[in-house]
Amino acid sequence: MTRPKVIVTRRWHEDVERVLLERYDTTLNEDDHPMTSAELQAALQNADAVLPTVSDKVNAEVLGVDNIRAKILGSNGVGFNHIDLEAAKAAGLTVTNTPEVLTDCTADLAMALLLTVARRVGEGERHLRAGKWTGWRPTHMMGTSVTGKTLGLIGMGRIARAVAARAHHGFNMKIIYHDPFPPRVEDLAGLDAIACESPQEVFEQADFVSLHCPGGKETYHLIGADAFKAMKPGAFLINSARGDVVDEAALAAALEAGEIAGAGLDVFEKEPAVTPALLDMENVVLLPHLGSATRETRKAMGMRVVENIDAFFNGETPRDKLV
Ligand code: DGY
Repeated sequence: MTRPKVIVTRRWHEDVERVLLERYDTTLNEDDHPMTSAELQAALQNADAVLPTVSDKVNAEVLGVDNIRAKILGSNGVGFNHIDLEAAKAAGLTVTNTPEVLTDCTADLAMALLLTVARRVGEGERHLRAGKWTGWRPTHMMGTSVTGKTLGLIGMGRIARAVAARAHHGFNMKIIYHDPFPPRVEDLAGLDAIACESPQEVFEQADFVSLHCPGGKETYHLIGADAFKAMKPGAFLINSARGDVVDEAALAAALEAGEIAGAGLDVFEKEPAVTPALLDMENVVLLPHLGSATRETRKAMGMRVVENIDAFFNGETPRDKLV
């Protein structure tokens, strides 16, 4: 029996690649280069399944190519704003993502950003490595306390709730949130979380604003100049969600003007490009989209894609079907 042909757009965890090679007629992206639109189109024309990831732009133009052979896009990642779902559906494609398996890992990283920026961890390390440390003194590199402060979450999905649990139980933080699609009461058990009517309310009250909403048209530049004006001058912005939720130029201007105290960012508007002004700011922590980047989680994400395409090719509905 001929095995379905699968094209993987980037290198994946080696255990997952091995399973894909065993079960499918798989083509790997040997040198791990980012595929161009033309390469993605060729993949759609030549494979039964294309397995993209969150940095591949599978937009309407890519999906508008003639003679698509692929029947499923098994995306490796929970976010799906890199895929035009309507265009995929119109092209007859099923699309899946990888929820749940990266929740804890991403929440850990959001907390790492929060602690790093508040306690000046990156700045302190740079200071020491540069040979500038002259010894302990009471006023040296005073940061901002985290324990007992108010964490404001924009979006209250799985990852936000995992951050809230860490912050509340680990750091005794008060949790407030805004989500236009609020979670079930039972999903908030033990968090003592207070719902806010609007993002504005969160901005005004939080010491740390952490973003956990999806990217895309609905949330584009949700955090812009007005949000920074509403935030407390001592507050920090944490973004481990999607870069385009934040107006990066407005963020740089707000930091420059001292409207907020700092930012911890794992995602950027035009990844991998970063607004140059941010690179020079000591009160900004910048990470290269590492939210789910542990070996355990990347393997689990890849295996979740395998589970989804296995189900699809067995004639079942994949567990994580988006369209
Ligand atoms: C996702 O899965 O959407 C992350 O951004 C990458 O881990």
